[in-house]
Amino acid sequence: MNLPQTYARTEADQTVAVTMTVNGSEVTMSLPARVTLSDALRDHLGLTGTHVGCEHGICGMCTVLVDGEAARACLLFAVQLDGAEITTVEGLGRQDDLHPLQESFGKHHGLQCGFCTPGFLMSSYDLLTHEPDVRREDLPEELSGVLCRCTGYRNIIDAVDEVAEAHRDGLPGPGNCGRRALVGRTPAGTSGSGAVPAEAAVVEEGSGHPDEIALPAGEPTIHIDVTSQLSSSPEDVARVLRDVRLLARCLPGAELTDELGDDWYRGRARISLGPIRLAFTGIAQVLEQSDERLQMNAQGKDTGGGGAQAGIVIVATPLGAGGTSLQAKADVFLTGRIAGFGRSLAGDVSRRMFADFARALDQAAAGEEPDVSARPPGAFTLLLSTLVERVRQRVRRVTGAQRGGSRSRRRGD
Ligand code: FES
Ligand code: FES
Repeated sequence: MNLPQTYARTEADQTVAVTMTVNGSEVTMSLPARVTLSDALRDHLGLTGTHVGCEHGICGMCTVLVDGEAARACLLFAVQLDGAEITTVEGLGRQDDLHPLQESFGKHHGLQCGFCTPGFLMSSYDLLTHEPDVRREDLPEELSGVLCRCTGYRNIIDAVDEVAEAHRDGLPGPGNCGRRALVGRTPAGTSGSGAVPAEAAVVEEGSGHPDEIALPAGEPTIHIDVTSQLSSSPEDVARVLRDVRLLARCLPGAELTDELGDDWYRGRARISLGPIRLAFTGIAQVLEQSDERLQMNAQGKDTGGGGAQAGIVIVATPLGAGGTSLQAKADVFLTGRIAGFGRSLAGDVSRRMFADFARALDQAAAGEEPDVSARPPGAFTLLLSTLVERVRQRVRRVTGAQRGGSRSRRRGD
């Protein structure tokens, strides 16, 4: 790895713009010079697959590839890496198409708590690409740069050895390095050098809109598919679907602030998850709008550095009794601190917000004022009801399992 030998003095409170390619996407971040690569990846890009253990270069948990070679992300300052190409464990494979190393770690149970797994995966990827003929007996030493606190080394060696044997003629490259949702903290007025910063910049007040909102190609953080039954007629629902201002008033915590023309809109949204408050500013483009269907793409930035992009489709279908079935589907891509909430909790909260949206839309269709716009999304209630629902599900699962268990015991009698 050839790091550029550049020297510059910055004040402690100054930030420096750093552009790097992370898992195939160019991203520009504005960071204090003291921020390590591991912190930049985890805290600024939401790529929390890179784990941090010792922060002293000892444990190897933070191993990533820098320009194709393994490096300790905790020992590098992000500002050293302007122009570098970084591959993290998120870039190695996709959930539905794992890299052979990931497959093999699963097959051989090469993990116990899993904390060292990203470090081992990236380190063994580096080893097998540089030394495809490595012998099994050399693996312990070759991989000794990563420490497993659970001491699960035997299975890890088995996993890496199997992949080495199967790919002597070349290890497949990282399988998830397409364009992804990486929203860096580009300061206002800084023009980023790639697609992602440019997109982030358009959400600033006073700027125009881009040609399009291009959603990331990878797996969304959350997939939502919620169907609600409304008592309003399809005609009344169609009236709301055709009125974007009224529609925005139905979305908990959302506010339409500007109509940019050509079916582009600017808005704000506030969500609070317990003590965490998110304030998004963003833009949306309506791609299709008819009496039965509304399709839009949206993207926004949270003031705390998180980012969200979403593709949303709402479909209204007549119900027999004069009511309307409303289906809301969304693929949501999260980055930054909100990506750390956990896919499952963020998904539950988003689904509940869509359910509230459907209720409010029903009110608007009936000619009433939707009652969600006056209050910030009631997110504590959202969170609470989400947790209550989870407890209910768990209780149902446990009681179901107990019934199933007693059934099988009876069968076994
Ligand atoms: S966290 Fe980087 S080597 Fe331990
Ligand atoms: S599996 Fe727990 S640290 Fe390695």
